[in-house]
Amino acid sequence: MNLKRVSLLAPCLLLVTFCTSQAQFEAPLITSISSRATTSLNGPWQIIVDPYETGYYDYRFQPRADGYFKNSKPKSPSDLIEYDFDSSQQLNVPGDWNTQDDKLLFYEGTVWYKRSFDYVTKPGRRLFVYFGAANYLADVYLNGQKLGRHEGGFTPFDFEITTLVREKNNFLIVKVDNKRRRDAVPTLNTDWWNYGGLTRSVTLIEVPNTFIQDYFLQLKKGSLDEVSGWIKLSGAIGKQVVSVEIPEASIKQTITTDAAGYAPIAFKAKLHLWSPQDPKLYEVIVATGDNSVVDRIGFRTIEARGTDILLNGKPIFLRGVCIHEEAPVRGGRAFSEEDARILLAWAKDLGCNFVRLAHYPHNENMIRMADAMGIMVWSEIPVYWTIMWDDPATFANAKNQLSEVITRDKNRASVILWSVANETPVGDARNKFLVGLIDQARSLDPTRLLTAANERRYLDPNTQLVDDPLGEHLDVLGCNEYVGWYDGLPEKADHLTWKVNLNKPLVISEFGGDALFGLHGDKNVRWTEEYQKNLYEHQLAMLRKVPSLRGMSPWILMDFRSPRRPLPRIQDFYNRRD
Ligand code: GCU
Repeated sequence: MNLKRVSLLAPCLLLVTFCTSQAQFEAPLITSISSRATTSLNGPWQIIVDPYETGYYDYRFQPRADGYFKNSKPKSPSDLIEYDFDSSQQLNVPGDWNTQDDKLLFYEGTVWYKRSFDYVTKPGRRLFVYFGAANYLADVYLNGQKLGRHEGGFTPFDFEITTLVREKNNFLIVKVDNKRRRDAVPTLNTDWWNYGGLTRSVTLIEVPNTFIQDYFLQLKKGSLDEVSGWIKLSGAIGKQVVSVEIPEASIKQTITTDAAGYAPIAFKAKLHLWSPQDPKLYEVIVATGDNSVVDRIGFRTIEARGTDILLNGKPIFLRGVCIHEEAPVRGGRAFSEEDARILLAWAKDLGCNFVRLAHYPHNENMIRMADAMGIMVWSEIPVYWTIMWDDPATFANAKNQLSEVITRDKNRASVILWSVANETPVGDARNKFLVGLIDQARSLDPTRLLTAANERRYLDPNTQLVDDPLGEHLDVLGCNEYVGWYDGLPEKADHLTWKVNLNKPLVISEFGGDALFGLHGDKNVRWTEEYQKNLYEHQLAMLRKVPSLRGMSPWILMDFRSPRRPLPRIQDFYNRRD
């Protein structure tokens, strides 16, 4: 009996030591991974499916000291160890677990991942482990030591493992838990599949003691010939000399950082501007000492002026489509360059110059492919429907996800819009929450436009009104509407006019209706292609009359899995809105 009393003390002590020791492994986000010295940890990982989190909690639901993260092995035949990664099932990383094993299609809970590797670190070098994303809550351990925790299923994170890694038999263990929570971001209810796992690449990054951790290089807001930004080093000892080179434009700038390794930069540059017609990317080399990062960056300006959106000073119309991050052929979470190429090529085939990547940050391959293919991007964080607006931890989580995606994608010319929310209910707490996110985005990136996919309401039976108070704080007003699908029949659109209370550009960020591919019938019969066609015809006729309309992204490029769509032989857990 005494043993149990003792066990209560141990977990508290454990927690304290954990918290303090973890901090030393937490690392600022390193950017531009693809041009660094890396070792991929992709491929098959051993997994343990752990619905009761037995590998983390004891029978009193207290954190265990000897959890699965220890990767323990019986030392003698009489030893009691009730798990063994090395004889357990394997899953591929990157990849969601739901589409790799039918038994896990609906699984929400914990899965432990283990990957062993050898690594020889050279003197004067540092080593980081980088995750493209893990849905949703990841606890990361190396050789039994906790590195830290990351919350949020769609943004990258990394840890420094220089002092922990050994030459042989390192074991990296990640507890990934995709359980939905009321206070999480997203919250309990979404219209997309809750794909769990190490859904994007896992990479070891080796850098010198002092290295280029991050940089921001874009045209200054409203200027077509001034590059402005900053460089941030990690491990800088005193002031360091840094250079920024754009060889093709015969540009080489040399600056000196402050003692913390930070330096703002600004210089005049006559550059070929990036646009959908001509997605010009420049090779840009950022270097310090023996460390250099080579990136491919497009330079363009994006502004809102009155009801116009200006790209490089010229008005544009965003001809778009919405896309969920699902793999075009195999299904499941998309992650590869090929997935990105196919999805964006389909969008281009439709005549798009713009895509709304719903409702969470998509993988970096998608954004870099949009850069290369000349497709403008609406990037969004999963502040979706009814989040816990009053909860400071929920706000901190949303803010962190926003900061991580801006950190990762701020040098991508294709990204023109940061969206802080989708279909959220107007209210004081919500407004305050979202304004806080907008301020965060503006403080991190003064060059791009802020938006949100808001809802409209009826001023009277024939007048749609776009007057969400959040609009005051946005540059572009996003609005979702489903006239003809959730709201009446397609012909209803013929009698509707739109009233927008602000002199700002309007983008209809969602509209449309379902159709099962190949199902034909009368245009009044739901789910038929004829019904969908009829709906779009009435929609486009209505939207053409909206004076401040500057873009649209119909819902959606491709059918996608949703747990909210069970209708047999029609939906079968797919949203059929493509
Ligand atoms: C909403 C929502 C989407 C959803 C769509 C639908 O507007 O933003 O995530 O899938 O409607 O109902 O199909």
